[in-house]
Amino acid sequence: MENIRRTKIVDVLKRTDYGQMVNVKGWVRSKRGSKGIFFIALNDGSTIKNVQIVGDDAKFAEDTIKLITTGACLSVNGTLVESPAAGQASEIQAVEIEVLGACDNSYPLQKKGASWEYLRTVAHMRPRTNTFGAVFRIRHNMAMAIHSYFHQKGFFYFHTPLITASDCEGAGQMFQVTTKNLYDLKKDENGSIIYDDDFFGKQSSLTVSGQLEGELAATALGQIYTFGPTFRAENSNTPRHLAEFWMVEPEVAFIDMNDLMDLEEDFIKYCVKWALDNCKEDLEFLNKMVDKGLLERLNSVINTEFVRLPYTKGIEILQEAIKNGKKFEFPCNWGDDLASEHERYLVEEYFKKPVIMTNYPKAIKAFYMKIDAEKPVFNGQEMEETVQGTDVLFPQIGEIIGGSVREESYDKLINEIETRGIPMKDMWWYLDTRKYGTCPHGGFGLGFERLILFVTGMQNIRDVIPFPRTPGHADF
Ligand code: 4AD
Ligand code: MG
Repeated sequence: MENIRRTKIVDVLKRTDYGQMVNVKGWVRSKRGSKGIFFIALNDGSTIKNVQIVGDDAKFAEDTIKLITTGACLSVNGTLVESPAAGQASEIQAVEIEVLGACDNSYPLQKKGASWEYLRTVAHMRPRTNTFGAVFRIRHNMAMAIHSYFHQKGFFYFHTPLITASDCEGAGQMFQVTTKNLYDLKKDENGSIIYDDDFFGKQSSLTVSGQLEGELAATALGQIYTFGPTFRAENSNTPRHLAEFWMVEPEVAFIDMNDLMDLEEDFIKYCVKWALDNCKEDLEFLNKMVDKGLLERLNSVINTEFVRLPYTKGIEILQEAIKNGKKFEFPCNWGDDLASEHERYLVEEYFKKPVIMTNYPKAIKAFYMKIDAEKPVFNGQEMEETVQGTDVLFPQIGEIIGGSVREESYDKLINEIETRGIPMKDMWWYLDTRKYGTCPHGGFGLGFERLILFVTGMQNIRDVIPFPRTPGHADF
């Protein structure tokens, strides 16, 4: 076969120098034939679009043609020509075809329209489908958008550890990391496992958040962000939860609640706009095949001002709705954590736009959030203390960001840690930030997969990460 430099399909489809010989390589999406001519739709992942290869049966060995089946990998030399068919500007008239990899007839993606559930069982192959190709190209673009946003704003990308001895969210949902022989655990007189001789010399786990280390960095470099995998052993089998997910966590010195909310809103809008600007074809495909309201929703988010709503006001609205006949499964009294049905009512029915909810009751939020100076009044009564938390709630998604201004007072923080029974010996290094030149600061965590859910219109978080980890599933 003549050696011609390969052109990616995304580039070949832009060319108009008809008559030139080109080489493309890729995987067969489909092949059909009529009257001695075959048509191959070839895709190499560089774009959602296929290039059409047209060939004369008579010009190719029968053995070669037999191997050109869905899923096979080909190298094709041919002439770039203007296409007579509608829907494509050009196609390639095949001169030479080499089958680089034949495809066994057990190929799991033979049939069109396979269910999402089925495709999860073949997650090693699903990137070859149109939808997952689009999702993973968009996922890449969102990662680039995140780095671009923060770099351009003067944030430094700071790498925080994945293995840690502290539980940032204090929810006890950590996966342990150990080299101990689990069949022969040494215990002390109280029955507690002895970790002194474990790899790290103490009980260690996979991190649930890079925030605590991020705070160290912010109180030195001014403004940083982390972006990496986080792990939560929460047994929630929902379309919004993963046991291993990626989180983006900016942390900023000298920031207050308003600046923090401005940052959250500006950041998300930048990412969504990036998708609209850079992932046009993939989004158009998803808008057509997966979610007909997608493009409209993306455009509406970048053009709307997010609502900023104190928790207490939110509860008032929800209780008013109940009075007017709205039914919820879970209660929503002042002090309750909002269920996803409550969040969705506020975002999708009441305001019809993203909501940043603030000033939550202290008891339902993490220990590090700054306590509000004043207690809220609800139904004429003074309520418990609230904190400067800011959760961004999105249509279809619910909570996409969780953030807060941090408690910078050493004494108040110690008090919180003690009353919550958080093991202090693991926190000394974190508390040092409050001891040595403490400063007002805050930040947030964006669940990367929840952003991808929103941007792609996919319904299940398992379908926006290449290899999802959920209770009972760690395949591939
Ligand atoms: O609200 P969370 O728990 O906040 C934190 O971890 C803070 N330390 C962040 C910070 O202030 N630096 O988690 C932040 C976000 C959530 O809003 C959600 O989008 C996502 O992370 N998230 C999950 N995404 C997928 N699967 C899970 N199990 C998730 N848990 C949280
Ligand atoms: Mg949260």
